Amino acid sequence: MGKDKLRRFAENETFPNLIQPLMTYPPLDHALKGKWHENFFHNQAPIVLELGCGRGEYTVNLAEKFPEKNFIGIDWKGARLWRGAKTGVENQIKNMAFLRIQIENIASFFGPDEVDEIWITFPDPHLRERDDQKRLTSHRFLNLYRQFLKPNGFVNLKTDSRFLYDFTLEVIQDQNLPIKIQTEHLYQSEYADDVLSIKTTYEKIWLKEGLNICYLKFSL
Ligand SMILES: C[S@@+](CC[C@H](N)C(=O)[O-])C[C@H]1O[C@@H](n2cnc3c(N)ncnc32)[C@H](O)[C@@H]1O
Repeated sequence: MGKDKLRRFAENETFPNLIQPLMTYPPLDHALKGKWHENFFHNQAPIVLELGCGRGEYTVNLAEKFPEKNFIGIDWKGARLWRGAKTGVENQIKNMAFLRIQIENIASFFGPDEVDEIWITFPDPHLRERDDQKRLTSHRFLNLYRQFLKPNGFVNLKTDSRFLYDFTLEVIQDQNLPIKIQTEHLYQSEYADDVLSIKTTYEKIWLKEGLNICYLKFSL
């Protein structure tokens, strides 16, 4: 492992806004499940998640834009989460946390109706057919999110992958879910406001390569 990664992992241990739970098998419910408002944020503001947040650009930007909400960025790569958590500490962003887990275990961390909205930003499309249940918008994952997302809470997907966009539309159709916004060309659409124009590390790479950005907003 590189020195830089080790330095980041050591610094991660000092960040009060980064939760790195020890996982057991089978996973046990975490002490914060159902208690994020009372025991972590100490307010009753809505909770918004970013799944596969990488360096946390969406989470940081949203937390700064919407101080009246709470944001939690989730990823399992500690060296990437370090960036978002460090920015949170440096800028004293109180309405933001990061959680280092595998999203497969997310139902051990959030209780019924605890979450108001979910963002999924540039997830791996997992192109191989046999990996379809690894896609973060597959039936398997939507059924997990349903366990803690409030009724009518939105899921937002931003992706460069037309394949994943079409796959997600099929899952939405199978589950008969209401779509609020769908566009295959976000930046040529009327929807590209200052929230949807926040750009993550991966989005910048795909835009440089000339790819369109697709966006879907739907409820579960
Ligand atoms: C392509 S990157 C996108 C990162 C960031 N959202 C961006 O747009 O720059 C996908 C991220 O999802 C994370 N990820 C993928 N599958 C995951 C899983 N099952 N549990 C937790 N994190 C996952 C990876 O670690 C990676 O950081």
